[in-house]
Parts: sequence; C-alpha cells; structure tokens
Amino acid sequence: MEPISRRGALTLGGLGLAGTVVGGAGLLWTSSSADTAQPQPGKELAEPSEVRSANGRLTLRLGAALGTVHIGGRSASALSFNGGIPGPTLRLKAGERLDVALHNGLDDPTNLHVHGLHVSPEGNGDNPFVMVEPGESFDYEYQLPADHPPGLYWYHPHHHGFVADQIFGGLYGAIIIDDPEPIDAARERVLIISDITLDGLGRIPAVSPMEQMMGREGQLVLVNGQANPRLSARPAERERWRIVNACVSRYLRLRLDGQRMQLLGIDSGRFGAPETVDEIVLAPGNRADLLVTMVDGTAVLETLPYDRGGPGGMMGGGERPRSGTPTGRASLATLTVAGEEVPAAPAVPAQPAPRDLRGRAVTARRELTFAMGMGGMMGGGGSMMTFTINGREFDPDRVDTTVEAGSVEEWTLRNTSPMDHPVHLHVWPMQIVESDGRAPDTAIWQDVVNVPARGQIRVRIAFDDFAGRSVYHCHILDHEDLGMMGVIEAR
Ligand code: C2O
Ligand code: CU
Ligand code: CU
Repeated sequence: MEPISRRGALTLGGLGLAGTVVGGAGLLWTSSSADTAQPQPGKELAEPSEVRSANGRLTLRLGAALGTVHIGGRSASALSFNGGIPGPTLRLKAGERLDVALHNGLDDPTNLHVHGLHVSPEGNGDNPFVMVEPGESFDYEYQLPADHPPGLYWYHPHHHGFVADQIFGGLYGAIIIDDPEPIDAARERVLIISDITLDGLGRIPAVSPMEQMMGREGQLVLVNGQANPRLSARPAERERWRIVNACVSRYLRLRLDGQRMQLLGIDSGRFGAPETVDEIVLAPGNRADLLVTMVDGTAVLETLPYDRGGPGGMMGGGERPRSGTPTGRASLATLTVAGEEVPAAPAVPAQPAPRDLRGRAVTARRELTFAMGMGGMMGGGGSMMTFTINGREFDPDRVDTTVEAGSVEEWTLRNTSPMDHPVHLHVWPMQIVESDGRAPDTAIWQDVVNVPARGQIRVRIAFDDFAGRSVYHCHILDHEDLGMMGVIEAR
C-alpha cells in the first residue's frame, strides 16, 4: 500500500477509518491490552547522533519531513528532523553561537523553538512568531550569552495550531550546554522520552477533539524512539543521564528501583548539591539532569501513573486522565548491571549556589489565571471547551503582558480548572517561591512549572539581558494549540 500523507491520515481518522485499522490484526501494542503494552526488552539503547560546536560555532541544517522511520522496532510513517527520531543532539558551550537552517518539508507550516535557552526572542533568534511555509527555509541564529547556564535543553516546532501534532509526530531533539567543570561519569546518555500512537499500518491516527481537550497521550512510550531498550553497565559505575519529557501531554513519574539516583537539577536549574531521589516527576517539557550509580542486578526504568485531573463534570462525565497505562506502570528501559565492580566515582564538584530572587525588590506583581470554560464552537457545530489565560485565547497580534527589561517580577499562576497545567515561559526561567502555600527552603529554578488543578504557584522572574516579544503557555501542547498561550513583551 502506498503510504498516505499525514494530512490523508488525518482525514481518514476523521472518518473513523484509522480507528478501524487500529482494531484490526497486526497490532503490536495498544493501551487496551491488559498488560502495559510494552514488548520484552528490546535492542541496546541507541543514542541520537550528536553535532558539536567547533571554533565557537555550531552550524547545521534541520530538515523536517514525513517519512518512513523506525519506531519501537517497527517501521512507521512519522515526522522527523533529518530522518531520525529523535533529531540530532546539539552540543555546545556558553558564549557560542548556534546557526540552524530549518527546512520545512512538511505539508503544514512550522518553525523552531529552542526550549529553555536564554537567548534573544527577536528577529531570527528564538522567535515563536516566525512562520516557515511548506517548502521554505529559515535561518535561525542563536547567540548564547557567555554566562549561559549549562544543562539540558531541547528543540521542537512552535507554530501555533500545529505544535502538538508535529511533536507527537516525531519532531524533537536535545541541546546540551556543557558544564564549565565536567562532572566525572563513566558515560553520558541522552534519553528523550516521547509517546506516540501508531495504527496497524504504522501510521499516526487522527486525534479526536476529546483527546485534544484532555491532552493526547500516546499508546507507546518511547526512549529515543525505541520501545523498552536495554542498557548495560558495571557495578559502581556512575552515569550521567539527560532525560527530556518530550511527550505532548503525558506526565512522567520515573523510578529506577534498586539503583542510586542523584538529581543535579530540573531544566536549567542546577541544585547547590545533588539530591538523592527515588522518583522524578517531569511535566511535559521538563528535563532531568541525573547521575545514576550502578548497583548489581537488573532494574527497570518505569513511569508510574500521575493523576493530572480531567475535565470531569465540565464535560459531562469525562474521565480523569492518568498519565500512565491502564495497569499503572510502563517499562521504559531495562538496565542490566553486571561484571566486575569499578572504583567509586569521585565526588561531584561543588556547584555554584543557585541565584535566589527572594531578597530582591519586585517591580511588578501579576496574576495569570489559567482556565477552561464551555465556549467556542467546533467545525461540526458541537461545543468545544475554551482554554484561556486571564480570560483570553492566544492572539499573536496582541501583547498581553509588558515587562520592563532588567526588572524582577513576581507572578501568581492560578489554575481554576480541574486539570493540571504545566506553565512554561520562554527565554527567562522562573524561580518557584511558593508552592502548595509553602516556600521551598532552597532556590528552585525551572522553565516549566506545574500548576495543579484548582491550585496556584508563585514564581519570580528576572527579565535579564533581552528585549522583545515572546510567549508563555501551557506545555500540554494540545492546550497551547487550543489557545492557552499569551504574548509577553520585554522593553
Ligand atoms: Cu517547549 Cu513554547 O515550548
Ligand atoms: Cu519553550
Ligand atoms: Cu493545560
């Protein structure tokens, strides 16, 4: 059978044909099977290819296109950057420049966002208002400041209305800014966790309006495009794992029971000292910079269910989406630790104390209210839920929040809806100063902050270094595409 275009797949899905295919034979894994729908341990974990800077520059071409790729051990028709899922890992240092020539080989408009990087949002920088039409190219230039925080970032498309489809389809990759002083590790691995649904023919079925409102979750949870890959190591080896939650809506609650995990930080927020943890919760868009010290035996990297609420009563009895599988646990990767023990790794070098804005004078205090309401009409005439910030849906031509460049602000992020919303601000990271009514005892910096259902969180933001227009939004990217995004201008 000829592969059909993604548009074609969406149309078929709209008619319910893709659903028929899903119900047919030849299906490998679906969420309806009683177990967690993951196959036996698969192949050795494959890393995305890596492109490094040289002489202060990293220059590359990224082509986004639909094609045949390998996902979870089978052939699928999906989107990719340069033919790989994930796209190449980009590794560079603070003070360097990243030049990306983005070519749009898709049937829809797209663009590129460098999530978490502290770079200019203007012109051909990290400008979410750029539109690259099918067949066209755009040259991005990102100049990293000399004091850019080291850590794990990622890139993905950001064209409003297409973000969820394009990331779910396979368009994402990691960016690593090297540590000024390396942390000793036997090996470093990039683990990009994503989810996707494939029908019996290896195509992505259309998403329903209900799934969009809930935030779509794929039936397969993948690590670097693989289903349950194998990893091996020797006892006492310390590895550095850079984990990205590239899922469109799924929250990850990661465990690696039996092994020793030390978290260096979340997003670009590096803790003063690594924290020993049993579990790591990553909202969509969050990253974990993790050290794993190997203990003899076999361990499974799992994600546990996370209750992120649901439209519930608002939708006339909708289900509460639990990020996870019907039986709860999904195996993401299997780690085997065997062989002769290696000498213990040296202590992690002292990290600079994180910046703390709590002592700073605040120029402005604002409240951003994230809400869901009954409202707009769908194409078919049914009613669609609205996703708003301060009562308004996204409008690229309206500035919602004007801030003074160089100032410090305090924002209260309020969620009046029965679902969690992971709130993300471009360019400037946020320090959490109050969560659950309590002040954290350390300085916690993230660029995606979860605002729980009917809850609130307070953050402080330093609008340093750059002026220009950018955005904040819910990183459940279906919600963002449905309008839960606002425009910020620093001037
Ligand atoms: Cu990862 Cu505005 O997004
Ligand atoms: Cu971002
Ligand atoms: Cu949301």
